[in-house]
Amino acid sequence: MKVVETIVQARAAAGAARRAGKSIGLVPTMGALHEGHLSLVRASRGECGFTVVSIFVNPAQFGPGEDLSRYPRGLEADLEACRGSEADLVFVPRVEEMYHGENLTWVEVGRLGEHLCGASRPGHFRGVGTVVAKLFNIVEPDRAYFGQKDAQQLAIIERMVTDLNMNVEIRRCPTVRQKDGLALSSRNVYLSEEQRREALCLSRALGRAVELARKGERDCAALIEEMRRVIEAEAETRIDYISIVDRELLQPLARLDRPGLAALAVYVGQTRLIDNMALDGQERPS
Ligand code: PAJ
Repeated sequence: MKVVETIVQARAAAGAARRAGKSIGLVPTMGALHEGHLSLVRASRGECGFTVVSIFVNPAQFGPGEDLSRYPRGLEADLEACRGSEADLVFVPRVEEMYHGENLTWVEVGRLGEHLCGASRPGHFRGVGTVVAKLFNIVEPDRAYFGQKDAQQLAIIERMVTDLNMNVEIRRCPTVRQKDGLALSSRNVYLSEEQRREALCLSRALGRAVELARKGERDCAALIEEMRRVIEAEAETRIDYISIVDRELLQPLARLDRPGLAALAVYVGQTRLIDNMALDGQERPS
């Protein structure tokens, strides 16, 4: 496994693999790698001859007062994890390598970024779209792998690729959870033992919405109310948002009359966690 820090080296290594007839898979990450990330690496390994993992904590997607400076970093452990899942190339650029001087050109994501995390993190998805576009231009992957855990990010990247005619296939990968249901996240390390227990209410609330929708509940306000009840039962939680949106443009739904997504962001103590689950939108035959 090769580890490189510069764009020139990353291009050269990916280019050599391409010339050797290998297809290229890219797994963009911000490091602090866990099984969720590694499931993407394995998906790429299964489909591509050459797998590139990028590790870059992208300042452009953090707002003022967010956790950029204390975002968990551990390069040695990350490289070990990449080796273990048989990545071929790890690209670990410095901030100055990715953003030299003032960046004037940005990917704007329009109304896909208006709701959910876009509403509480202004500029976040512009930063995500821009860095992912840069990574695509550097690595020129055939396929790129993203987790459904960040459903809005995934929808935005799929749309960016369509709208800007990027020559890359986006692969959606399922959310990896711990046995008790908590979605794996680099930010889980911020949680105390008690908060870790409380954090289970995210997946529990979503699971409850899935169950009620399955039983025929179509009123989104009722589903949201039920999720709110589950979350507010825990002492240290503070709701950022709980929404039900359509799966294509992520606009809020009043009735679950098409495929929906229940999504939420909740602070547990100081830590903001997100999760989501699909809700099926079939009206029941009467
Ligand atoms: P990061 O949070 O490190 O996540 C990298 C990738 O891992 C994303 O596609 C994310 O959806 C996926 N992922 C995280 N937790 C997961 C889980 N429990 N199950 C499955 N996949 C999971 O997302 C980012 O970094 C950044 O915004 C990035 C795309 C790298 C741009 O900077």
